[in-house]
Amino acid sequence: MSFTVAIDGPAASGKGTISRAVADHFGFAHLDTGLLYRAVGRKVLDGVDPVQAAKALQAEDLQGDDLRTSKVAQAASKVAVIPEVRQALLDFQRAFAMRSGGAVLDGRDIGTVICPGAQVKLFVTASDAVRAERRYLELSTKGQDVTRDGVLEDLRARDKRDRERDAAPLVAAEDAVVLDTSEMSIDEAVAKAVAVIEARI
Ligand code: C5P
Repeated sequence: MSFTVAIDGPAASGKGTISRAVADHFGFAHLDTGLLYRAVGRKVLDGVDPVQAAKALQAEDLQGDDLRTSKVAQAASKVAVIPEVRQALLDFQRAFAMRSGGAVLDGRDIGTVICPGAQVKLFVTASDAVRAERRYLELSTKGQDVTRDGVLEDLRARDKRDRERDAAPLVAAEDAVVLDTSEMSIDEAVAKAVAVIEARI
């Protein structure tokens, strides 16, 4: 039997950290679906057509530290508005969600489009200032040349594009539990997510 946990939210809301932690806690597989769009975005920066890149995506394309740069993130959110790109990535995500033993998928449209029947849906948010500070610390710790203002501007541009697009926009599913992590430590946020999931198992 499959058991799917859908975790959506804007950039740097904490959804990735929470997803990895709950997958670990319950022994579920985890898919960071943002990586799929980032891998397509990276190929487009190299001159490949976005739809062709999405159709030809391979597991090894999901590797590499440069997937985590702001440049690739922006490219990802630009390819993510293209319905054919989203369509090309759909089957892989749904098959992952249906694997036995449980799966956690995090992204923007998991609870609304990819897995509308997920047993648990979480929508993770945090204030712009908190999200920008978290992403700034993450990127600067990795040695990337970023400023706080630049990171905030990037996040806002990406969120706007993600929220306003026609194809699978970023929005909380009607039946999602909203988790605002602005004032929470990682441990508190993970404990809340674990409690929500435990109540549904
Ligand atoms: O989650 P992450 O920040 O890595 O995602 C990068 C970009 O990929 C997002 O800004 C969004 O445009 C796109 N994305 C999406 N749908 C998903 C996951 C990511 O459109 N399920």
